[in-house]
Amino acid sequence: MIENRRRDRLGIHSIGEFRMTVPSLEDAKRFYLSFGLDVQQDTQGGLTLRTFGSPHVWGRLREGPRKKFESLTLHCFEDELEALRQRALYAGVTTIPAPTGEDDSGFWINNPDGVALHIRPGVKTTPDEADHASPALPVNGVRCAPYRRSTGTIQPTRLSHIAFATTSVPAQIDFCERVLGLRLSDRTGDGVAFIHAPHGGDHHLLAFAVSSGPALHHLSWDVPTVEEVGLGYMQMAAAGYADGWGVGRHVLGSNYFYYVQDPWGSFSEFSATMDYIPASADWVAQDHQPEDGFYLWGPDLPAAFFVNSEQGA
Ligand SMILES: [Fe+2]
Repeated sequence: MIENRRRDRLGIHSIGEFRMTVPSLEDAKRFYLSFGLDVQQDTQGGLTLRTFGSPHVWGRLREGPRKKFESLTLHCFEDELEALRQRALYAGVTTIPAPTGEDDSGFWINNPDGVALHIRPGVKTTPDEADHASPALPVNGVRCAPYRRSTGTIQPTRLSHIAFATTSVPAQIDFCERVLGLRLSDRTGDGVAFIHAPHGGDHHLLAFAVSSGPALHHLSWDVPTVEEVGLGYMQMAAAGYADGWGVGRHVLGSNYFYYVQDPWGSFSEFSATMDYIPASADWVAQDHQPEDGFYLWGPDLPAAFFVNSEQGA
């Protein structure tokens, strides 16, 4: 049996759910349905985002004057909650009241950018072991690729990670390590950092890139292989979402990617076969060359990738 936790490391293990306001729920519904997510109306008139085949709610959207990432729930083991609360207080972080109408179990704190984080016991949504797959190998004498008409809709299986714009990458690394018990995977100076959870999971659960202010940069959704990444790109283009970046492969995390721009200037990523860091591993974080911070191969980066989608006019 896989041991899904490190007894010698205190720390949150998973993303629970995020909350975001968007200027048009109609636009959001169309975008995320096209992306292959299970989009439902909730009882308060907002939308829930799930991956098909799972009851887990990854995200809740409400209508607001503009797109704004509101808060993030992170899950811990039940028997670590109190120690994590004490760890936050010891680190000089004060708890805050739950926002009106939100779950007040566990505790709430602000991260260094003032984004509200909710820490509570919950299901471990990070995988307990790597579930890598690869496209089928060619067989001699047989056409291996499917017909275009028979590929079906690409549906991501889970939320892999969330990437944020931040005013200070070092402050976020320090906060993630000292308060949340997360661990640095890799960085490129003070420009970009990738953070993993200590109890087994993807190379990054959270990522940060320096910018003019806090913002959601992208939501990353796991698909089985690079084939689904490519087909996801085609699916979004056919639905009218032609702007994005990819298909390509990252160096840090090693995953294949396609980022499609959402209606508000941030992105959703199809991601396949990211490096997996088991609970038993002692991953050694490294500071890499800036050229390795973005990609191994793929098209040139579009300027839109660096625009802060929640700051400015
Ligand atoms: Fe990503």
